[in-house]
Amino acid sequence: MAAAIRYAMRHVGQTATNPSVATLIVRDDGEGPRIVGRGVTAIGGRPHAEPVALAEAGALAEGATAYVTLEPCAHHGRTPPCGEALVAAGIARVVSAAADPDPRVDGKGHAILEAAGLAVTRRLMAGEAAETVSGYLNRHREKRPEVTLKLALSADGKLGSKGRGQVKITGPIANAQTHLARTRHDAILVGAGTVLADNPRLDCRLPGLAGRSPTRVVLDPRLRTTAEMAIVRTARETPTLIATFADADPHRRAALAAAGVGYVACEADPRTGRIALPELLEDLAARGMSSVLVEGGAETAAAFLDENLVDRLVLLRGEADIGDDGIASPIDVAAARRRFRLIREYRFGGDHSFEFARREA
Ligand SMILES: NC(=O)c1ccc[n+]([C@@H]2O[C@H](COP(=O)([O-])OP(=O)(O)OC[C@H]3O[C@@H](n4cnc5c(N)ncnc54)[C@H](OP(=O)(O)O)[C@@H]3O)[C@@H](O)[C@H]2O)c1
Repeated sequence: MAAAIRYAMRHVGQTATNPSVATLIVRDDGEGPRIVGRGVTAIGGRPHAEPVALAEAGALAEGATAYVTLEPCAHHGRTPPCGEALVAAGIARVVSAAADPDPRVDGKGHAILEAAGLAVTRRLMAGEAAETVSGYLNRHREKRPEVTLKLALSADGKLGSKGRGQVKITGPIANAQTHLARTRHDAILVGAGTVLADNPRLDCRLPGLAGRSPTRVVLDPRLRTTAEMAIVRTARETPTLIATFADADPHRRAALAAAGVGYVACEADPRTGRIALPELLEDLAARGMSSVLVEGGAETAAAFLDENLVDRLVLLRGEADIGDDGIASPIDVAAARRRFRLIREYRFGGDHSFEFARREA
């Protein structure tokens, strides 16, 4: 199952409304267990992992064990449900990890298998597998994408320096990790302040993974983003959405739309007059997005934290100070430890990475 979970990671963020799931078909003909079929949900979400693994196994699936990282689906789409495909291939035993909260599946996948006489072992490494589909699970539970806030902090807790544009805070290893994290999300979101100050590209530039850049979303109620900005110039290669109010300047809107930029019409938060974030997240979920990586800046990060919308927090802390004129981060490692649960800690060259998750209610 550990190998299946690692395999499932391969397409996280690339499978649209479907979770990235893996299946390994394993058989033991007396010389120890052997993997005879592998499948991971295809990019775009179809086909599912099970039929891909069964096709590779062919006749060797007969009497074998299938390890699946999520309960096999039970509903008829254009193809028969994966539960039925496992039965038809002669699989003898299914070991599953995470449970699927989709009401069309939720226990029904296992029921198909058991009714056909297959042995079923549930919830092996369920917690680890749930991590790989956490966005999908969150979208079903909360009706919004899972939000990861990622911030790079200088040693003195600053995010940047006013008027200096993008300030180098972390080194190449940490930066590559950020690019990898981008590929695993459906969207990257920033505030207009960051687009104006840094003119970032917000894509994945790792060799071989350039095609995996997620949709970029900018909170820009006054449409300050212009056609010269990098995210607009590349909007035809990497989808770009501007979250703005319905009454935003129609001329600017038309100019950006002509460059390939899309829009999400937002409501105003009656308290602050700013873009209402819970409703925006609901709209992104309705577009099939399960995970959003919020990459700042300071005001945007503070707004997500204040609204208690941060499910995961990644703090990358560099070695150098920025100084007193720096932009203070709304959260530092000490405050994060109090509010969130530390789940991983890494060292990337001279930088430290801290990954936190929401504390269970
Ligand atoms: N170290 C890091 O990880 C990191 C990451 C990103 C950026 N930065 C740095 O942060 C600085 C920019 O930060 P910033 O605070 O000025 O900009 P920001 O958070 O990127 O953008 C703030 C703007 O977003 C718009 N907005 C719309 N709805 C909002 C809402 N609900 N909550 C918050 N903002 C909303 C507002 O635009 P309107 O004012 O037009 O209404 C607001 O002014 C730059 O110096 C950049 O280099 C650092």
